[in-house]
Amino acid sequence: MKIAVLAGDGIGPEVTREAVRVLEALGLPGLTLSYADVGGVAYRNHGHPLPPETLEIARNSDGILFGAVGDPACDNLERQLRPEQAILGLRKELGLFANLRPAKVFAGMEDFSALRPEVAGAIDLLIVRELNGDVYFGEKGIRTLPDGRRQGWDMMAYAEDEVRRIAHVAFKAAQGRKGKLCSVDKANVLETSQVWRDVVCEVAADYPDVELSHMYVDNAAMQLVRSPGQFDVVVTGNLFGDILSDQASMCVGSIGLLASASLSEGKLGLYEPIHGSAPDIAGKGVANPMATVLSAAMLLRHSLGLEDQAVRIEAAVARALGDGVRGGDLGGSHGTVQIGDAILERL
Ligand code: IPM
Ligand code: MG
Repeated sequence: MKIAVLAGDGIGPEVTREAVRVLEALGLPGLTLSYADVGGVAYRNHGHPLPPETLEIARNSDGILFGAVGDPACDNLERQLRPEQAILGLRKELGLFANLRPAKVFAGMEDFSALRPEVAGAIDLLIVRELNGDVYFGEKGIRTLPDGRRQGWDMMAYAEDEVRRIAHVAFKAAQGRKGKLCSVDKANVLETSQVWRDVVCEVAADYPDVELSHMYVDNAAMQLVRSPGQFDVVVTGNLFGDILSDQASMCVGSIGLLASASLSEGKLGLYEPIHGSAPDIAGKGVANPMATVLSAAMLLRHSLGLEDQAVRIEAAVARALGDGVRGGDLGGSHGTVQIGDAILERL
């Protein structure tokens, strides 16, 4: 069992360290960890945010535990050298096309939601975000129009096979949950979304037991705060999924609690908290490592098939929260290592 640990920038190393402690505490036979630089730190050490050695370590692993990338000091580099390109490059190069972002309110945590507690308490949804296509990976550029004005442009496109494979992932996920799937698009305006919707409808024929609905993304954003309990599985494209998953995190209470898995057609997956590198609190030992610890649990579940161990970790985090362990993101005073200790004690 080879795990690649790519801690990255900002709070990435701090939160990843706690997740590694939790993994090591499980005493899994044959577990090996390989560390590699990624993001801004990789740019500084190797001249590129995703050095070839890092990509190889990731490719040869069974699962990748990823911290965060992003460094304000790199914001003026040309786009290809910015830290964010590392995560986009890993997703593309390793074919990690299916991003699972579960959002569920932990028992007793309803008051931390930006929503009314009775609304928040009903949240138990899974966003399935396509991760290899859309406007993220289309051609793009900045050009000068004949009249001299500058114009930025990005091409949005989805081919039917790209939609089909993510739709299958989403329908299967719905079968394992409450059997409801909502496909989010903007088919009233975008041709990309029309193809998306048509293909999702075609795939639905294979899953008569799943109840499929469609929603425009603006309405979905509204419904997510109006009555999030109506959603079970949500499937959407790369850009809409990016936005809706941040929104879902605040509905749950904190972006410091949400984990994610990015899966390929095979067993290889990348697991990361959905939060970023949080440069403002980096190195202070105050970041909440729970999202990364929960990402490690997803790694055990999806890439190593160790469901029991995944559940053990999730239960330990839930118990720590239940016992009042709170990072600064939740208005508490527990530091990063203290939270790691609290999870370990309850494991
Ligand atoms: C995410 C992040 C990334 C994205 C950034 C860091 C490129 O926001 O994983 O949601 O836009 O996908
Ligand atoms: Mg995002």
